[in-house]
Amino acid sequence: MKSVILAGGSGTRLYPVTHVVNKHLLPIYNKPMIYYPLSLSMLIGIRETILVVNPQDVENFKRLLGDGSHLGMRIDYVFQERPRGLAEGLILTELYLKNQNCILYMLGDNIFFGHDLPKIMLSAKEEVRKEGGACVFAYYVHDPERFGVVEFDESGRVLSLEEKPKKPKSNYAVVGMYFYDSEVFEIAKSIKPSHRGELEITSVNEEYLKRGKLKAKLLGRGFAWFDAGTHESFLEAGEFVATIEKKTGLMIGCIEEIAYRNGWIDKEQLLKLAEPLKKTDYGKYLINLTKES
Ligand code: G1P
Repeated sequence: MKSVILAGGSGTRLYPVTHVVNKHLLPIYNKPMIYYPLSLSMLIGIRETILVVNPQDVENFKRLLGDGSHLGMRIDYVFQERPRGLAEGLILTELYLKNQNCILYMLGDNIFFGHDLPKIMLSAKEEVRKEGGACVFAYYVHDPERFGVVEFDESGRVLSLEEKPKKPKSNYAVVGMYFYDSEVFEIAKSIKPSHRGELEITSVNEEYLKRGKLKAKLLGRGFAWFDAGTHESFLEAGEFVATIEKKTGLMIGCIEEIAYRNGWIDKEQLLKLAEPLKKTDYGKYLINLTKES
């Protein structure tokens, strides 16, 4: 299985900070934002990831993540020349993914935290792999009008989806993490741009709903979810990560740790990755991992 992480976009909602640096390379506390979605994809065992990036930013992404081999992975880069919507990110990666029976699509500015999240993701993956269709995740928020919104019936079946509705039918936002079967390319290519001129991911999900092939899983109160696309949510996400990491002494989104624990790199390789970071708590954390029995 492969994943796609959307890390393009112009980041206008974060201007002037994103004037010269792509949003996904900015720090959420002690690591670049892109580490967080990448780490989740790694946590469910995905070793091949495609990053959709702006051509002008690709060199920076490559300096940070290269071809992924240092993590025992493969990372490819696909260009999005101009941001034309989240669904376009999928269309651009079709060549790489058309033989896959399940694809994980993540928005690079979404940050998640919660016990057993990988377990929930793995069950979504299994369902899509076996039965086809798509699976989205819903999270209760106080400001649903900012997001894609999902409405459920009493039995938990999806009734409707709407992108940034003025009058939301529920408080459940659709978060930026989606599992799709291979029909997603045909669907993404068939949808029409919305009034803001974008190919909306919600239109893709609506088509799955029409076909009776959309599932939604709830991320309950034990989860934290941030869409770090505004100054406020960006700061909140950083503060959250800092609090949890200081309290537990464990890192969130540490890609080197996950590669090591997954057995994709060995002790020696981890030490090599830690070497240039050894003056930082991050580097010390990695070195300590190699001392665990
Ligand atoms: C996008 C999606 C929206 C989703 C959100 C999650 O919105 O269009 O459906 O709820 O991501 O972060 P955007 O952040 O691009 O406005």
